[in-house]
Amino acid sequence: MKKILITGATIVTMDEEQPDHFCGDLLVEGDPITAIVSRPERIEQAGIDRVIEGNKWILLPGLINTHGHAAMTLLRGYADDLPLMRWLEDKIWPAEKALTGDDVYWGTLLAIAEMLKGGTTTFTDMYFFMDRAAEAVAESKIRAMLSRGLAGVGLAGGRMLREAESFINNWQGKENGRINTSLGPHAPYTCPPGFLKKVMAIAARTGRPLQIHLAETAGEVERCRQKYGLSPVELMEHVGLFQFEVIAAHCVHLSDRDISILAQQGVGVAHNPGSNLKLGSGIAPLNELLKAGVKVSLGTDGAGSNNNLDLWEEIFLAALLPKGIHQDPTVIPARAALKMATTNGAEVLRLPRLGKLKVGYRADLIGLKGDLPHLNPIFDPSAHLVYSAAAADVSLVMVDGQILVDNGSLTTLDEERIIYEASRRAYRLTGKKGRDNAGGLHEGNNFNYQR
Ligand code: NI
Repeated sequence: MKKILITGATIVTMDEEQPDHFCGDLLVEGDPITAIVSRPERIEQAGIDRVIEGNKWILLPGLINTHGHAAMTLLRGYADDLPLMRWLEDKIWPAEKALTGDDVYWGTLLAIAEMLKGGTTTFTDMYFFMDRAAEAVAESKIRAMLSRGLAGVGLAGGRMLREAESFINNWQGKENGRINTSLGPHAPYTCPPGFLKKVMAIAARTGRPLQIHLAETAGEVERCRQKYGLSPVELMEHVGLFQFEVIAAHCVHLSDRDISILAQQGVGVAHNPGSNLKLGSGIAPLNELLKAGVKVSLGTDGAGSNNNLDLWEEIFLAALLPKGIHQDPTVIPARAALKMATTNGAEVLRLPRLGKLKVGYRADLIGLKGDLPHLNPIFDPSAHLVYSAAAADVSLVMVDGQILVDNGSLTTLDEERIIYEASRRAYRLTGKKGRDNAGGLHEGNNFNYQR
């Protein structure tokens, strides 16, 4: 069991039972945090495998990304400035038809490399070839909640359901509990009620949560009302989906009644402000959701619609958009935005002992360099983390007590090879070459990799 001690850091625990921030030491022994002390107390350094001098660092729990499609990194920048349905039907779905398991493996590794370097320690995925995505998670040693994406409008629905259940049975709790699974019915418009009932039967058998895209665009809500006489949220309640643990992504277009259903039924909402803005879907009523008592976490969505997996941008947008909409700078204070990316993320995904720096909690934590111009002077570290910090400031990332980013570099992954493999697959999938987009430079850079 490896003992790692971080000394003299500015610690932001996100634990309401501890001060908002303080200077102190933190000890990790194996996978849990075993001691946190504040100055003038110190943790004894004898018998420690590695001591990290943290006096210029801000330490906080690892960020939790509660909605995404990891291997869509392969389609980053391929189809931009289009509305959701045209983006899906004309660009994304045709390109995805040619996806192979190897593509998903390398695309997922590209996503993991990006997320780890930016301080995300847990991510959520809904995609295809999930065994290969799980392999990427196992090798990288990040934490994840994975689901096989499900659609019930085509002929493949039955096969998808079988794959989803066997994926859960094969992978749930693997890798010291770092791999978690869920069911991923894509959306009400791709999963009619009869199909959702079959998904719910698997949820009942396996005890795993469900994640679904819900009320993402005004058009989706309108078509749902025309077809069923109900909003997407009302339809899901009517079908009985909310009897299970549900992570609802987006929830942009909601009535007051929808919001109270989400609150009463304990539905977790994954808020994706960047993707919603970029696809022109709208802006979710974040302040209203939180006021109603809905548990809201943050997600990046896939890199095809964001176009990065940088949760710091989502934290920033989550804090700023409601201030502008309500013309009130007091709504969504910094601490609330940070909570969405940490403690709320753990609660929405139902992952115990995560989202806080606390004795007995799993050692998923990140350290940002505090000695950078844009992070000084420091009055309130939480404000800096929300309004000033960036993914590139992350220097240390630990998941389950293992250091996965050390001094800004990945320890478990070959970053250069991942970029090469993912890029060449992306060009094959889309029928485009890098040179078409980047005047030759891109292809030249990527294709001279020798292995
Ligand atoms: Ni999505």
